[in-house]
Amino acid sequence: MQIVILPTADDVADYGAQLFIRQLTKHPQSVLGLATGSTPLALYRLLIHACQQQQVSFARARTFNLDEYLGLAAEHPQSYRYFMQQHLFNAIDILPENTAVPDGSAADPVAACQQYEQQIAAAGGIDLQLLGLGRNGHIGFNEPSSGLRSRTRIKTLTPATIADNARFFQPDEYQPHLSLTMGIGTILDARKVLLLATGANKANAVQAMIEGPLTAACPASALQLHQHAIVVLDEAAAAQLADIEFYRHIERENQALLHRLANQ
Ligand code: F6R
Repeated sequence: MQIVILPTADDVADYGAQLFIRQLTKHPQSVLGLATGSTPLALYRLLIHACQQQQVSFARARTFNLDEYLGLAAEHPQSYRYFMQQHLFNAIDILPENTAVPDGSAADPVAACQQYEQQIAAAGGIDLQLLGLGRNGHIGFNEPSSGLRSRTRIKTLTPATIADNARFFQPDEYQPHLSLTMGIGTILDARKVLLLATGANKANAVQAMIEGPLTAACPASALQLHQHAIVVLDEAAAAQLADIEFYRHIERENQALLHRLANQ
């Protein structure tokens, strides 16, 4: 795991956006894995700005989102498809047919999950997967106890996740308790994974993910197995890390090495 600790949440968004822009500049036909939630919003705003300034194009890219609520149609304002249209897709040059979100209103959601896996495989796999982190250590909707090699499937949300996401629903509105989510195995198959976490309420989950044991009790700890996982944190999210000075030291060494190589 590469651990990058930056002063503020804006710096985290900027770092993430630069990584996406570099990926698309080098490989315009990249397959991108995307996330919803509060964390990626600032990154998406930067990508929209870069696209509008013609610094990056999504015209040849494909995207696969991590998850969707089971029972919400694409047009539902709380669906993750709707979120993606509002916060990214409508404002960039991506072709609508090249964006995929699990189908929350599929007549046969079990089959829809299998098809989602097949679609990802047919696209050649995911080049760069963006992740947020749940306070309980979830990635996608892979809640604690999720199988570490799981594939896209239906998952029951924990009461903690339902409570965390209740802020997006009206008090009298139906809030789904089930989701369709890429599995941990699906996420681990991505060639590169970028997890962003900001704010003090993520600090315990960040500590468990990086310094805790590999365990289904903290699904994000599975990233310890990934060969190219980058975790970008602001100071508040990094605050519970026991070895924080060591991670800063490694990152300074990495940057110095890259600088030396670039100037050879
Ligand atoms: C969203 C997702 C979730 C969120 C996580 C953090 O597609 O898969 O795992 O990334 O719940 O959410 P925020 O960013 O709202 O704190």
